[in-house]
Amino acid sequence: LGSLGPTGPARLEAAARSAMSGHVYDYIATGSGVEETLAANEAAWRDLLLRPRVLRDVTTVDTSTTVLGTPVSAPVLVAPTGYQRLVHPEGEVGMAAGSARAGSLLTLSTRATVTFEELVEVSGPWWLQLYILRDRGLTETIVQRAAAAGARALVLTVDTPYVARKARRTPFPPDVVSPVLVPELQARDDKGVWQDPGVTVADLAWLAEISGLPLVVKGVLRGDEARACVDAGAAAIWVSNHGGRQLDGVVPTATALAEVRAAVPEEVEVYVDGGLRTGRDVLRALALGATATFVGRPAVWALATEGAAGVHDLLVSLRAELEEAMALAGCRTVAEVAPDLLHP
Ligand code: FNR
Repeated sequence: LGSLGPTGPARLEAAARSAMSGHVYDYIATGSGVEETLAANEAAWRDLLLRPRVLRDVTTVDTSTTVLGTPVSAPVLVAPTGYQRLVHPEGEVGMAAGSARAGSLLTLSTRATVTFEELVEVSGPWWLQLYILRDRGLTETIVQRAAAAGARALVLTVDTPYVARKARRTPFPPDVVSPVLVPELQARDDKGVWQDPGVTVADLAWLAEISGLPLVVKGVLRGDEARACVDAGAAAIWVSNHGGRQLDGVVPTATALAEVRAAVPEEVEVYVDGGLRTGRDVLRALALGATATFVGRPAVWALATEGAAGVHDLLVSLRAELEEAMALAGCRTVAEVAPDLLHP
């Protein structure tokens, strides 16, 4: 299996950049504010120094694991990103096909540019990322159709009561495509249907009830809030700062992860995204107690360069890097990765 190599993530981004217009590139690459958090996310992983175990018989290493009961080939999964047809004609269908072939799991954005029917034809296991819209009836329609189409969980994004101002404020790409998840959403593609800033923790039970699906809460950076979400019925917590695209100046996810992990019961799964670029970063996240990690921009760059094949190759490369890192750190299984692997 190939590896992205030391300059891999940067090369992938450069290749993607040359395959798209400047507007589209800026839309994906940008952070909010002055991009403090965007930069801090990647740096915070690199700041965690590994403390490998030796003499552990690493003849065989197994990266496979499960998320909410679903088997995956490695704890490297695809984060939700909107408007994927902006970067490649296959859009979310390509993302889903590449992810499925790599044995990964896809999170579909509410702002997807394909329908559920198009997606499920090619997809492996997938979750729906949800914004609770001002129109609760439409929210319910989306949730119920996702459940009927085979979504295995709902991921409620809670860090976006309003969409933050982006640092690179280019006009939205002129070749914009609309979210088409369900026809009702396409017909109402105006600001008014988007996320409801009035959402509270009381809405979690409502969502779990109307969907019958496990609920993952995405965008939590504090232990107390993670605990409150679990108490309100969340099955898992996803530590995220939206890839540095919402409140700028927040704690990097590598730093927030330990606090969140410590605050919720051991059986509650905790995921993390933001600035993860190598298999070593994934190992660091697992050592901090993450059940699995998600990649946002790298998957978009991969889709932009080579469609489904690019997404497959990225995920397989990250898995190979993780496998190597686990072997060199003396870990045969994901379960053997523990906090002692990090320098205090
Ligand atoms: C996002 N993200 C996001 N999150 C979400 O819950 N719903 C969405 O529709 C989107 N859309 C989106 C578009 C683009 C272009 C980006 C870059 C990000 C956030 C995403 O799920 C994830 O949290 C971050 O991208 C993770 O950080 P990295 O891997 O991009 O550093």
